[in-house]
Amino acid sequence: MSTDKTASNIDRLCAVYPGTFDPPTLGHLDVVRRAVRLFPQVIVGVFPNPRKAPLFSARERVALLRSATADLPHVTVKAFGGLLVDFVRREKAQVILRGIRAVSDMEYEFQMAMANRNLSGIETLFLMPDEAYTYVTATLVKEVARHDGDVSGMVPPAVLTRLKKSLATRSRRSASR
Ligand code: PNS
Repeated sequence: MSTDKTASNIDRLCAVYPGTFDPPTLGHLDVVRRAVRLFPQVIVGVFPNPRKAPLFSARERVALLRSATADLPHVTVKAFGGLLVDFVRREKAQVILRGIRAVSDMEYEFQMAMANRNLSGIETLFLMPDEAYTYVTATLVKEVARHDGDVSGMVPPAVLTRLKKSLATRSRRSASR
């Protein structure tokens, strides 16, 4: 009886992987793929984050993540506002997941994990993406792409296409000013 109960609770385990994802990178997707091997359900939570002046709207980021995870049936992608811990509770998830690329990420991550735990009791687990992506950040991708550099090894194909389109529109706009 108790074994059955444990099994059904395990089936319901759900992790939220939050971020700005402006744009989603291959590093983010590597973390999602690792997460689905550990959790029966994974929700990728897109925070609009207007303070970071994102290049893509939250709706676009959700669409890009949905297309990049279309082959993963246990992954859902949603935008959220407000506090992350309230989103985690609303979704009835138990855990927050974050990717850690290097020790330098730790200070910021540690602060967020502690704040979230103190606010809610919800724990944060960290996953490391493949070493190939340790240097890849969304900011770096945008910087390289803005200067016409090749980012095909850093983002999924749909993001690459969208990135080129968005930057071309921006440069046309600034040229006509
Ligand atoms: O990809 P990012 O920008 O490092 O992700 C940061 C994010 C979205 C996870 C963080 O800013 C966040 O959780 N924002 C939601 C608002 C919130 O709960 N802030 C307090 C976190 S301690």
